[in-house]
Amino acid sequence: MNTGLTRRELVALAGASLVAPSALAQTEPLLMRSIPSSGERVPAVGLGTARIFDRDDETTRGKAAAVIQALVANGGRIVDTASTYGDAELVVGVEMANAGLRDKIFIATKLESPDAAELKRSLTRLKTTKVDLLQLHNVEKRNQSLARFKEWKAQGICRYVGITSTFHRDFPAVEAVLRREKPDFVQIDYSLDVRDAEKHILPAAADVKAGVLTALPFGRGRLFSAVHGQTVPDWASGFAESWGQFFLKYLLGDPRVTAVIPGTGDPKHMIDNIGAMRGRLPDEKERAKMVSFVEAL
Ligand SMILES: NC(=O)c1ccc[n+]([C@@H]2O[C@H](COP(=O)([O-])OP(=O)(O)OC[C@H]3O[C@@H](n4cnc5c(N)ncnc54)[C@H](OP(=O)(O)O)[C@@H]3O)[C@@H](O)[C@H]2O)c1
Repeated sequence: MNTGLTRRELVALAGASLVAPSALAQTEPLLMRSIPSSGERVPAVGLGTARIFDRDDETTRGKAAAVIQALVANGGRIVDTASTYGDAELVVGVEMANAGLRDKIFIATKLESPDAAELKRSLTRLKTTKVDLLQLHNVEKRNQSLARFKEWKAQGICRYVGITSTFHRDFPAVEAVLRREKPDFVQIDYSLDVRDAEKHILPAAADVKAGVLTALPFGRGRLFSAVHGQTVPDWASGFAESWGQFFLKYLLGDPRVTAVIPGTGDPKHMIDNIGAMRGRLPDEKERAKMVSFVEAL
């Protein structure tokens, strides 16, 4: 997204009303979910940083500042990044440090392999000595081990370990690693129009008591394009005030989902997404209706 705003303007925007919690936000409880392995409660809507924060320039830093401050000021906490998202770790690290937000953020990052040099680079770029969640990115083989990640967890370098993939051909390997290694988290492609994760990954996560983060909850924006020009149907107005909330609440309607991590470079969208933590969730009948609605588009 190109806002056309300078970094200074974006930060000013973030410091003004956009990041101030609304009266509703202060009174209405936000949806929190428990991390199964620890019972720690986390806000169920976070922020993804792929593509959006991948260039370390003035404009990107301004967007990151505005969005991260909007997330935290409105009750969010989880920020998901990766060693391979261009400069995203660096951009997030600088803004967390500048705004003094490290303690308020649950930082999740990903490594391509259990490599100490890669870990050191991520910690340096994030300007932190430990991350909350360290994930093995794009698991593709059944025999991939989390032994090193678990050692790092034992050393206090991360609080939780996880695995990720958005490649559906690799889901059998993800399930095998999930069942054998029993990580704290699995991060998987799951959206209202791509629900393969419901077949094997969500049940396996529940079996081994792993938390679930849903990557690509809007299908990289595909869902917004599908409903372009339409308003949220009346039957959904009791639980969704926007399309963003409609799509996110479908995912959060499954109690096995710990948090959704939509990507955005727009603080208004961040606040809209945070709104999915307020009000009721769709029940099973409504979730089925949401699926039929999207399938008919
Ligand atoms: N293997 C893996 O582990 C893996 C792979 C892929 C992704 N991921 C994670 O998943 C995260 C999310 O994926 P993603 O960012 O690629 O795709 P996404 O969250 O499905 O969609 C992002 C798109 O939705 C738009 N958007 C966000 N909130 C909106 C709102 N309220 N209203 C209208 N538009 C909205 C964004 O545009 P604006 O910027 O204009 O808001 C952006 O174009 C990534 O950032 C990453 O952290 C993990």
